[in-house]
Amino acid sequence: MQRWYSRDYPSNLHPILSSTEQALIQPHRNPMHVAVWLLIICAMIYCAIAIGGYTRLTDSGLSMVDWHPVSGVLPPLSQTQWIAEFEHYQQFPEFQTVNSDLSLEGFKRIFWIEYAHRIAGRLVALAFLLPFIFFQLRGYLSIAMSLRLIAVFLAGALQGWLGWFMVQSGMVNDPSVSQYKLTAHLSLAVLIYSYVLWLSIGLICGKLRLKLDGSNRLFAGISFCIALVVIMLVSGGFMSGTRAGFVVNTFPHMNGEWIPDMLFSLTPLWANLFENVIAIQFIHRWVAFAVVGVITILWFQRFSMNRSATRVMLDIVMVVAICQFSLGVATLVSRVQLPVALAHQSGFVMLLSALIIMLRLIVTGQRDGTMHTDRIVGS
Ligand code: HEM
Repeated sequence: MQRWYSRDYPSNLHPILSSTEQALIQPHRNPMHVAVWLLIICAMIYCAIAIGGYTRLTDSGLSMVDWHPVSGVLPPLSQTQWIAEFEHYQQFPEFQTVNSDLSLEGFKRIFWIEYAHRIAGRLVALAFLLPFIFFQLRGYLSIAMSLRLIAVFLAGALQGWLGWFMVQSGMVNDPSVSQYKLTAHLSLAVLIYSYVLWLSIGLICGKLRLKLDGSNRLFAGISFCIALVVIMLVSGGFMSGTRAGFVVNTFPHMNGEWIPDMLFSLTPLWANLFENVIAIQFIHRWVAFAVVGVITILWFQRFSMNRSATRVMLDIVMVVAICQFSLGVATLVSRVQLPVALAHQSGFVMLLSALIIMLRLIVTGQRDGTMHTDRIVGS
């Protein structure tokens, strides 16, 4: 019988291995059941992120002016309730300053979009909690795994609260949400997604014995790329949150300048990183170049890799990175057209997913210490 829950590995490998070397699922249970459930959760989180992007890009996010985690599941059901909801919305700055000509029908349209985003969040919570209880009762989960999953659930609850905290920031005076809170909300969603994906792929590659070359150089390179992509996530959050994509729409230079005059126009200096739209865009585009540059350098390692799976994964990461870069440029020059901006957001999740999957498979390759076989499954 295949052993998926514990393995011997050479002691001279990377220290990260020792911390993951423990059973997460009880030995008599099939880890694939849990892995598939976690993959479904990833897909649902991804949908919630995409709907969130759509909500932001259609300026619908401030249409629901209160938050009731349980009773808020029900939308207005009668015309009277709709009118009451609309009148409530009219008390807030978004209606008073930018949407004063909005009809009830127009209000319903933006309300349904924000409602869909909130329902998506609740569905993720439900799809997480119920199977978690089931797996717990059926004795699938070890204590280590249960603790990890409880942490994920708590992070999800924090994410819901953070969403409301963000919306509230757009309900006083200026009807636009704080870029700091928007970035925190987006980043936490991506963090939860990444961790659930990591856990799920760990179970799958443990069971199916999938792995890539366990090269330390590749491990370091992919880890570095993930760090850069996380910087892009935060930078992208500030791009969206400050609408920096609407300010300068030329590429590769910025309105004829390679280094814009206004780059450090704010004081203190650090404020430019988060509040100066020119600096925010400048950083985003140049870190994007760094991401593609580092991935290209890494891609050349494909020629020294033993496993065909490693080569294919490097090819995938390279192609997704180029597409993501191109989508970023398209988003910019199109002045943030909805479909292009949504594709750019999705491309980011794909790039990050490819890198996380790769890193997880490299870790398994290192743990197995079988860098010189060219089989993907079975060993
Ligand atoms: C590897 C490369 C890139 C990555 C990983 C990346 C990542 C991101 C992320 C995570 C966001 C936030 C999405 C959201 O809030 O929904 C974003 C937004 C944005 N990015 Fe990129 N990006 C990349 C390259 C570029 C490039 C090269 C450009 C243009 C020169 C660009 C232009 C933009 C613009 C204009 C936005 C704001 C879109 C909006 O307001 O919805 N990106 N990016």
